[in-house]
Amino acid sequence: MCGIVGYIGRKQAYPILIEGLKRLEYRGYDSAGVALMPAKNIINVYKSAGKVKQLEAAVAGCDVAGCAGIAHTRWATHGEPNKENSHPHCSMGGRLALVHNGIIENYAVLKEKLTAEGYAFASDTDTEVLVQLIDYIQKKGNYNLVTAVQLALKEVVGAYAIAVMDRENPEMIVAARKSSPLVIGLADDGLYLASDATPIIEHTNRMVYPDDEEVAALYKDGSYRIMNLENVECCHEAQTVALNIGQLQKGGFPHFMIKEIYDQPECLADCMRGRVMADMNRIVISAVNNYKDVLMRAKRFIIVACGTSWHAGLIGKQLIESFCRIPVEVEYASEFRYRNPVVGKDDVVIAISQSGETADTLAAIELARERGAFIYGICNVVGSSIARATDTGSYIHVGPEIGVASTKAFTGQVTVLAMFALALAQVQGKISGEQMKETIEELVSVPDKIREVLKQDDYINNMAKVFTYAHNFIYLGRGYAFPVALEGALKLKEISYIHAEGYPAAEMKHGPIALIDMNMPVVVIATKSPLYEKVVSNIQEIKARGGKILAVITEGDTVIKEMADYSIEVPETMECLESLVTSVPLQLLAYHIAANKGLDVDKPRNLAKSVTVE
Ligand code: AGP
Ligand code: GLU
Repeated sequence: MCGIVGYIGRKQAYPILIEGLKRLEYRGYDSAGVALMPAKNIINVYKSAGKVKQLEAAVAGCDVAGCAGIAHTRWATHGEPNKENSHPHCSMGGRLALVHNGIIENYAVLKEKLTAEGYAFASDTDTEVLVQLIDYIQKKGNYNLVTAVQLALKEVVGAYAIAVMDRENPEMIVAARKSSPLVIGLADDGLYLASDATPIIEHTNRMVYPDDEEVAALYKDGSYRIMNLENVECCHEAQTVALNIGQLQKGGFPHFMIKEIYDQPECLADCMRGRVMADMNRIVISAVNNYKDVLMRAKRFIIVACGTSWHAGLIGKQLIESFCRIPVEVEYASEFRYRNPVVGKDDVVIAISQSGETADTLAAIELARERGAFIYGICNVVGSSIARATDTGSYIHVGPEIGVASTKAFTGQVTVLAMFALALAQVQGKISGEQMKETIEELVSVPDKIREVLKQDDYINNMAKVFTYAHNFIYLGRGYAFPVALEGALKLKEISYIHAEGYPAAEMKHGPIALIDMNMPVVVIATKSPLYEKVVSNIQEIKARGGKILAVITEGDTVIKEMADYSIEVPETMECLESLVTSVPLQLLAYHIAANKGLDVDKPRNLAKSVTVE
């Protein structure tokens, strides 16, 4: 996820672009760049690692003239967040400049083909392959830019919102999209384009939203055309957008946390993009392929992480043990690093971290490396310290997470762990074609199932109102649902400051049951699973002591629905993937309780997004 912005018209483009990038920084902020086209045969490109402010400083004193330009603030998916990898990317020879939001899944194949045609690459990104491909097609067929873009996009697998300029035609910018957002702003002074309306709204409120696989040609005289890849003209009525900028950055939501909860269906689809090959009944995780010997030789996996990432690790343990039959230990990084653990060359250490900067996790990696273990990272932030300190790994690709309470990163981590376990089981030959098929089908349906859960947001908000002033909560679950209980309790603690404890449901009778009375809300993850009957018994035990039951149940389950004081129904899925669906109502519950209390949900007291100190 990153932000793109463009302008062509009568005004100078640079101030519009730089202010636009600042508005889009919530979408990505690891590097930024701008390309300006002041006249025929000139494109000036400026880039910088870091935030837009750093780009602004780097550009100071340079020639920023030009009434046409494109710009980008990056959230890296392919290649470290350095200057070379930042956008805009230019074709070899510098004729074209392009910015891109998304992932070109088949970039490796295309890169090979273009290299054979004599193309040299200046970055490690998937994006550069696209600009070179457009250039190659344009030159080979002597096509105009629109046709070259249409033909190139037919060869591309993946997601994109792009804007591209051709220095031989300074009168035009071409933009296109598929599965990544793009909006065009119509103003009297010219045409704007961006990932969303935030950079455009102060210039115009008239917007056009192209559909997937459509290409827009924006001309300097203010006219534009939108066509599909077959060059059939597409007609979109301009819409009047009436939102303020703050709302727009948060996608119309009051907080980033709730926006990020709602982002999950798309984020998980991005996370699976290019990895889950449903038609081939395969899951391809490149690090698993590249290091299959090391991974298959491992006598043990040790997962190290903190907080929410540690909870994802507990689910990862169950996934890897059940699919790959390799023992897995899950350790708090802060404990592991200080207790002289038994770890060595037969172990693979999996470090999980959203930020990739958590000091304890980094120290745990260093210790494990010194003792000879192979290190696999699961991070969100590309090029982060942990991503660089590992031998290999997989990014979760869920885009920037701004709310301090982790939501989409958690489900992204679980999705990567599920794909990791399945991909490894596949190379081990431990999973049948039938089981793989069934699991892949379920995995790809998870985003839709989360959408179903999100439809109950109002209902969950009403339920949250009843419990806004509770002082304590208990969360219970068994098997895959136990880490979900821990995560649900952590979410509530972090943002609402209500004391909450997660427990394995059956452990309750060994102590916490003493806490239960009519003032104690107990959240039970009680979906249909092999342990369903046992969870029913646990619910009875709580009811017998007057506890208030909030149950997360499988759609259509009338038995627990009748027993519970409140219930949230979630679509049925395989037990091993259930946490992806059941964690979402608990995120919503915590969110609404905190929001109802009027608390600063995105920046809860005493907490930091990445904990870079001990
Ligand atoms: C999650 O809601 C927390 N804010 C926190 O527990 C977090 O998961 C933990 O600090 C680990 O962070 P990381 O994933 O960036 O390493
Ligand atoms: N895949 C591109 C890159 O890594 C675009 C990133 C994005 O959209 O987040 O640079």
